[in-house]
Amino acid sequence: MDIHEINTIREKAIEEVMNASSPESLESVRIKYLGRKGFLPSVMEKLRELPSGTRAEIGKIANALKNELNVIIEKKKNDFQKEKNKPQEVVFDYTLPGSWRGVGSKHPISIIIDEVIRIFRQIGFVVANGPDIETSYRNFEALNTPSHHPSLDESDTFWLEDGRLLRTQTSPVQIRVMEKYKPPVRVITPGRCYRRDTMDATHSANFHQIEGLYVDRKVSMADLKGTLSYFVSELMGTTVELRFRPHFFPFTEPSVECDFSCHLCSGKGCKVCKNNGWIEIAGAGMVDPRVFAKVGYPEDVTGFAFGMGVERIAMVKYGIEDIRHLYENDVRFLNQFV
Ligand code: DAH
Repeated sequence: MDIHEINTIREKAIEEVMNASSPESLESVRIKYLGRKGFLPSVMEKLRELPSGTRAEIGKIANALKNELNVIIEKKKNDFQKEKNKPQEVVFDYTLPGSWRGVGSKHPISIIIDEVIRIFRQIGFVVANGPDIETSYRNFEALNTPSHHPSLDESDTFWLEDGRLLRTQTSPVQIRVMEKYKPPVRVITPGRCYRRDTMDATHSANFHQIEGLYVDRKVSMADLKGTLSYFVSELMGTTVELRFRPHFFPFTEPSVECDFSCHLCSGKGCKVCKNNGWIEIAGAGMVDPRVFAKVGYPEDVTGFAFGMGVERIAMVKYGIEDIRHLYENDVRFLNQFV
């Protein structure tokens, strides 16, 4: 054993440490040189056989080599660890086709609500909102609906334990608006309504309405008809006609039901209008003076109100034959309305 030999081994050992490609191969290099039966311990063993002068010299070199190897092995180990902790670099293949992430579409109910709002905004109406949970007073009494009216019945209305209810119509928002604002008012109020209806092709316990209210001085039935005619021609096309049929609502006097001539068959009769030629679109009328009295409006104001079903408009406009399609959220159905 001489200095030359140790130096040759040193170079080899360093090279092997540097070339180790994994923590496992590094460990076998360490065992080879520093392990109990490795190269350096065996050098130390053999020192005893050497003459004392050479022994000290070689001993020093061997010790230095041991320390040096320990240091570079430790460093290399850290490097492996760092490499392992490094976030994996994503290899991006720009030639691959993109993955398709389905783009959502507006729900037909939202489309109709937005469209109705757009139409009425053009003639100066603003949007007002009210809560789904309403007082019985605003949903019925203030709307001139007596407490013996069948719509208050357990079988028609969802009552809460505290005496409030899930509003059965958007009409109570009229009351909220008039309680808060002095005339003139011109509002449109979209929202959810609830009734104890059994679900079938044309009924749902939860549906949407849009209410309109216009109060000022000298508002007449002609204004109501003009406003709704404009609305229907914007919504359905200019060839569509509007007609009023007498009806009854507790909060309007006189009251009417409004139909428009079927846009599909031009009034000749088809599946959508049930061979009628006309399609019902809204309930409406002149606000009953008793309603004005409830909200403390002066006696000389007049106004009209109307309420329409959003689902119904969607079904007529798009030719949807079953209301349940609107709630099932089948994307194949919903994607048709982009
Ligand atoms: N609230 C009525 C309903 O749910 C619809 C309605 C009719 C609203 C006449 C009105 C109206 O504002 O004037 O059947």
